[in-house]
Amino acid sequence: MSKVLRSVVTGVGGYLPDRIVSNEELARRVDTSDEWIRERTGITQRHQAADHQQVSDLAVEAARRALVAAGRTAADVDMIVLATTTPDLTFPATAAIVQRKLGCPIGIAFDVQAVCSGFVYALSVADGFVARGRSRCALVIGAETMTRLLDWTDRGTCVLFGDGAGAVVLEPGEGAGTTADRGLLGLALRADGTKQDLLYVDGGVSTNRQTGHLRMQGNQVFRHAVVNISEAVVAAAADAGIEVSSVDWFIPHQANQRILEGVARRLGIDETKVISTIAQHANTSAASIPLALDQGVRDGRIKPGQLLLMEAMGGGLTWGACVLRL
Ligand code: UT7
Repeated sequence: MSKVLRSVVTGVGGYLPDRIVSNEELARRVDTSDEWIRERTGITQRHQAADHQQVSDLAVEAARRALVAAGRTAADVDMIVLATTTPDLTFPATAAIVQRKLGCPIGIAFDVQAVCSGFVYALSVADGFVARGRSRCALVIGAETMTRLLDWTDRGTCVLFGDGAGAVVLEPGEGAGTTADRGLLGLALRADGTKQDLLYVDGGVSTNRQTGHLRMQGNQVFRHAVVNISEAVVAAAADAGIEVSSVDWFIPHQANQRILEGVARRLGIDETKVISTIAQHANTSAASIPLALDQGVRDGRIKPGQLLLMEAMGGGLTWGACVLRL
């Protein structure tokens, strides 16, 4: 059997800011209710970064925890790929800021912008380096301060998002070229720029020199979500050469409990295999998958050697899925 190099997740870490904002607190600020938010989304609370915290600070905390879990230090890191929609600055890339704050040696550092699909995109980009022997120790991070992008007068969006960061350490590992290998086994990425108006930010450097606010036609995005995500999951499973039913854990992007359940139902995934953090974290965009992974690893559900399926959809529209064995 031929030997192949795989990108193996050797450590996982997450970080959530201390401040918790309940639905009740939001209901005192905007025309909404705990009941509406719970019923339509599954969200009960979200975390919000403190004023002094930048998204790089959240990323650094998650990265430190992932490095400890991997038995590595900042000195080992030769590459940082960071997925975010809410960077510290327009430039430099937040990944380079994280590199400085962590004290990593000179290496590769850049951001990936695919909104809520950012972590799946970033993982695939890092895989392109690690599985070709071009990185020995990569940090792949999803980090967001989405609450800073919200229009607090728009109840259709401001109740949905939260702040946080999740990270994994990726290292090369030799496999036999079979589905029993540890590492990233299958991938499917998609983008459809014609659907921009469904989910976007109404500001930007080159448009109006402003940061802007998140705008979403929620019910339209919802309509596309289950169908698009399901197609990508089936494609990623085929790419990996596995059956969707054989995965141990389904770790979806956390946008709406009804979407999670809709995808799981459509694909015949048992609901006991779904990792859901939407109630506590709300939608943390690119951070939601690594945060959910971290949650599952820390509470002992997700174990080394298990087969994981991750998926996401977000602004672009972008979407995608990947299969990996931990
Ligand atoms: O992560 C990126 C991808 N994002 C997503 O996947 C999000 C996808 N979309 C969704 O999760 C859902 O569409 C939402 C949770 C955003 C909205 O749920 P919905 O069931 O699609 O509601 P809707 O937008 O169709 O609105 C239904 C009603 C409207 O009132 P009328 O017109 O029926 O009188 C809204 O004005 O709910 C009203 N509404 C609210 N009411 C209380 C909208 N937001 C709120 C709110 N509180 N926060």
